[in-house]
Amino acid sequence: MDQEFAGQVALVTGAGSGIGRATAHRLSRGGARVVVQDLNREAAEKVAGDIVDAGGVALAHDGDVSDESLAPRLVNATLEAFGSLDILVNNAGMGSAQVPLWEVDVATFSRDVSINLTSQFMMIRAAVPGMIERGYGRIVNVGSAAGMEGHALAGGYAAAKGGVIAMTKTLGKELATTGIIVNAIAPALIASSMVNEPWFTDDVRNSLLGRIPMGRMGEPEEAAELIAFLASNRVSFSTGAIYDLSGGRATY
Ligand SMILES: NC(=O)c1ccc[n+]([C@@H]2O[C@H](COP(=O)([O-])OP(=O)(O)OC[C@H]3O[C@@H](n4cnc5c(N)ncnc54)[C@H](O)[C@@H]3O)[C@@H](O)[C@H]2O)c1
Repeated sequence: MDQEFAGQVALVTGAGSGIGRATAHRLSRGGARVVVQDLNREAAEKVAGDIVDAGGVALAHDGDVSDESLAPRLVNATLEAFGSLDILVNNAGMGSAQVPLWEVDVATFSRDVSINLTSQFMMIRAAVPGMIERGYGRIVNVGSAAGMEGHALAGGYAAAKGGVIAMTKTLGKELATTGIIVNAIAPALIASSMVNEPWFTDDVRNSLLGRIPMGRMGEPEEAAELIAFLASNRVSFSTGAIYDLSGGRATY
C-alpha cells in the first residue's frame, strides 16, 4: 500500500491549507505526482515546495476555482506537466455569511454556490472526458455535513454542499461502467484554518463539539486518509456514495 499511487497523477484544489494540503501530502507519500492548486499562490507554492523537499513531485497552480476559464487550463497544465490525470480531489471551498437565509443577498448566495458547487462541476467537466478515454479515474468531492443536515446561518453554503452530494450520486451512476469511481466525503468539524475565523467563537466551538460523540475535532490528516482511500483502486464497488467524517455525529 506504501506506493499505491506510483505512476499516478493527482490534482487537488484548495490544497494550500487544511484538508487539501494534508491530502496533497498524503497522495504524494503514496507515490502520486501532485498538482497543488489554490487561490493563494504563495500557499500553493509552499505546499508544492514542501512536497518536493520531502522527495515527491509536485506543481503549484493558482487561480479561483469559480472562474470558468480555470478548470480547462488546470487540466491542460496537469496533462502537459505529467501526461495524465488519474485522481481529482474537488476540495476548494469556503463558508458563507453568518446570516439567516432570507437576509442573504442574491449575489452572496450565488457566490456560495459558485465557489462550493459550480466549481466542482466545472472541474468534473474538464477532467472526466480524459479519464473516460483512459478508462480509469478516481474523483473525490469534498461535501459537508451541512449538505446533509442543513446549517443555520450558512444557507448558501449548505445548499451548495447539498448540491455536491446530489451531483456525486448522479455522476457515480453516470460513470459506473467506465472505470471512474466518484465519491464524496461529508466532514462535520475538522481543525483547519476555519478555527481561526472570527465567527468560530468559544461558544460556537463548544456547541459544535457538544454534538460530536468523540468530543473532539477531526484533524486534516484524518480527512486526507479517507480521501486517499477513496482515491485508490482499493475502492472498486462503491461509487456515488457519501462518506461520513463526523466523529460519530452522523448516524444516517
Ligand atoms: N473544516 C471543516 O470542518 C469542514 C467541514 C465540512 C466541509 N469542509 C470542506 O472542506 C474543504 C476544505 O476546507 P478546509 O476546512 O480545509 O479549509 P481551509 O480554509 O483550511 O482550506 C481551504 C483552501 O481552499 C482555498 N480556496 C478557497 N476558495 C478558493 C477558490 N475560490 N479557488 C481556489 N482555492 C480556494 C483556500 O485558499 C484554502 O487554502 C472545503 O470544501 C470545506 O467546505 C470543511
